[in-house]
Amino acid sequence: MVAGRFEVNDKILDAPLVESTVGDSGIDIRKLRNETGLVTYDPGFANTASCRSAITYINGEEGVLLYRGYPIEQLAENSRFTEVAYLLIYGELPTPEQQRRFSERLTYHTMIHEDMKKFFEGYPPTAHPMAILSAMIASLSTYYPETGHPQELELNMIRLLAKAKTIAAFAYKKSIGQPFMYPQNHLSYPANFLYMMFAVPAEPYEVPPVMEEALNLLLILHADHEQNCSTSTVRAVASSEANLFASVAAGVNALWGPLHGGANQKVIEMLEMIQRDGANYKKYVERAKDKDDPFRLMGFGHRVYKNYDPRARILKKMAERVLNSLGVSDPLLDLAQRLEEVALNDPYFIEKKLYPNVDFYSGLIYRAIGIPTDMFTVMFALGRLPGWIAHYKELKEDPDTRIWRPRQVYIGHPKREYVPAGKRG
Ligand code: SDX
Repeated sequence: MVAGRFEVNDKILDAPLVESTVGDSGIDIRKLRNETGLVTYDPGFANTASCRSAITYINGEEGVLLYRGYPIEQLAENSRFTEVAYLLIYGELPTPEQQRRFSERLTYHTMIHEDMKKFFEGYPPTAHPMAILSAMIASLSTYYPETGHPQELELNMIRLLAKAKTIAAFAYKKSIGQPFMYPQNHLSYPANFLYMMFAVPAEPYEVPPVMEEALNLLLILHADHEQNCSTSTVRAVASSEANLFASVAAGVNALWGPLHGGANQKVIEMLEMIQRDGANYKKYVERAKDKDDPFRLMGFGHRVYKNYDPRARILKKMAERVLNSLGVSDPLLDLAQRLEEVALNDPYFIEKKLYPNVDFYSGLIYRAIGIPTDMFTVMFALGRLPGWIAHYKELKEDPDTRIWRPRQVYIGHPKREYVPAGKRG
């Protein structure tokens, strides 16, 4: 079926349709350059599909998010992070036996090699934990090198999912000069992370259930989001046949950027700045609208959502509930809610369809749990791991996969002759 026709000078290309099951279908332009001599120009790939995928679907206009067809609201209400991880990676909700086995494997691979503890000694206490996370994930490939064994990828996916939370918790302990706390096999995935973060050798530590539930939900809400910047980075690196650890380490680095996963840290820093400035949030809404002012309302806007991010809607409700359950009163929550209300009623934000995204409220919950601000993007990465792994696996299994090597529109000098130094003006 022809999706569209390109007519360039005397050349015609009838481009086939790449049909979706839901949402945008695509126009197959793989013959465009050979048939017309032209390439497409689409900075940021806002109109370009890099692949066909069955993992996650987003309808940005309606604020819909589905993981393997299941609405995020239903998974947030009923599921566990490890169950959602299984769903994203293998495509179906696990049977009870599959879930038991998957969780058991994750539990028994949570420890990192004792020698990896030495890596932490080289970092300054001020090292940003995202730098440590990406370096340590890449370094997992030195302990688990690719051998081509058929079950190898499966085991390395488990190792990565299991060990990343240990690396993250150890990075935190290193930053505060406390001893590493080893994982406890009887604890759930979120509880084990919180134990390794907050337990100390001197006394017993019970993970508060409300914190475990809050983290379980945060991890589910961050688990995947189709072809976002960091997932696309994982796919780009994977397309060269780099190993899983190298590909995901690249994704961690892409996520670190303040326009992407780094936004959750920037939101809190923004709210603290506004709070220090007399909570004058209206001034900052005006600054965000000023083209000559680089200030942006962090946690607002999205490439795909032109409606309320469904994850932000869930997190907004949860923020109030968690703070109340923990008996925490955070003035930044009240400030965030007032900021949101003013922005959502401002013509600038309405016209540009700028709504709160997943990062706007998540930081307030991490704060309430006791996670330090510079660990917020690490928390995003821990949540996104199943998505990155699922996309890596899907790309490896996709017969259409080719190494990523985009074209360009060259605007530099045409050919010119070399000028010896003595003859330059
Ligand atoms: C995540 O892609 C994903 O799915 C990402 C993510 C995931 O789960 O993986 O959802 C996670 O990264 C969420 C986004 C977190 N980032 C932020 O909150 C940073 C603040 N937001 C923006 O910088 C921006 O909205 C982006 C980066 C999120 C989207 O950028 P786009 O799609 O390139 O949009 P744009 O920068 O072209 O903005 C369109 C217009 C511009 O005005 P004009 O040039 O048209 O006049 O909207 C304005 C922008 O100036 N705008 C904002 C704004 N975001 C966009 N103005 C003020 N404040 C903002 N936050």
